[in-house]
Amino acid sequence: MRLEGKTALITGAGSGIGECIARLFAKEGANVVVADVNNVAGEAVAAAIRAEGGKAIFGRTDVTVGADVEEIVRRTVDAFGGLSTLVNSAGITQQPCSSLEIAEATVDRMLAVNLKSLYYTTVFAVPQLRRARAGASIVNIASVGGIRPRPGMAWYGASKGAVITLTDALAIELAPDRIRVNAIAPVRTDTPMVWHMAGGESQAKREQMGSAIPLGRIGQAMDMAWAALYLASDEAAFVTGQCLAVDGGRLLV
Ligand SMILES: NC(=O)c1ccc[n+]([C@@H]2O[C@H](COP(=O)([O-])OP(=O)(O)OC[C@H]3O[C@@H](n4cnc5c(N)ncnc54)[C@H](O)[C@@H]3O)[C@@H](O)[C@H]2O)c1
Repeated sequence: MRLEGKTALITGAGSGIGECIARLFAKEGANVVVADVNNVAGEAVAAAIRAEGGKAIFGRTDVTVGADVEEIVRRTVDAFGGLSTLVNSAGITQQPCSSLEIAEATVDRMLAVNLKSLYYTTVFAVPQLRRARAGASIVNIASVGGIRPRPGMAWYGASKGAVITLTDALAIELAPDRIRVNAIAPVRTDTPMVWHMAGGESQAKREQMGSAIPLGRIGQAMDMAWAALYLASDEAAFVTGQCLAVDGGRLLV
């Protein structure tokens, strides 16, 4: 098992990419802490992991609230004796619109969930990652939109671009502590987020979105989870400060 002995705190693990990462990490032997603002979804993911024989707890966590993040880190250490792996997957997006017309409150919330949250997880989780014996790392879920912004998605793209910059900055800063920091940049991925943005799910939309991607389909949460597994595992022991685009070649066209 590729994550034996590790304890992973995964934000946004109640749905989509975060959920898939939580389930895969548990199958690979990690203790998993499901942190999500959605009680029902988060409890269900933790229960499903336990039902499959994995080790998981859920803690309701709003990543925009420092006290919530502090508490989930404390619960992680209480439950599993430490923390080796942090995955920042909680995120929200915007409806495509003019950068001038987007509501200020939407921008504030998006920056709080997608970016400021990493301030709290850094402040509260890094002291525990420093105590991990070996193999500590952070995996941030960014977006291809943070590398190549698309029209109508400026503020979302900017929030994810900042996540990529922060990944690099923390990789340098935490290297002396032997904490690796990497990111994944997903292309459009088949999760509730993408269908919410697209105004509903349909096969026609799936195919239309997929046609813009060289490999001919949109991403699956599992594509992202495999990448996160590699980056969190000791197989990536010499990899830090990288942003791995899992995008079916989208950034090439
Ligand atoms: N789906 C895509 O096409 C896509 C593409 C690129 C990047 N991403 C990024 O991947 C990450 C995961 O997105 P997803 O597609 O799985 O979306 P999703 O909506 O399926 O899951 C996001 C999860 O984050 C949780 N969340 C939202 N706000 C929160 C908060 N304040 N505190 C704690 N949890 C909160 C939600 O409850 C939900 O469970 C996000 O950061 C997103 O920006 C997604």
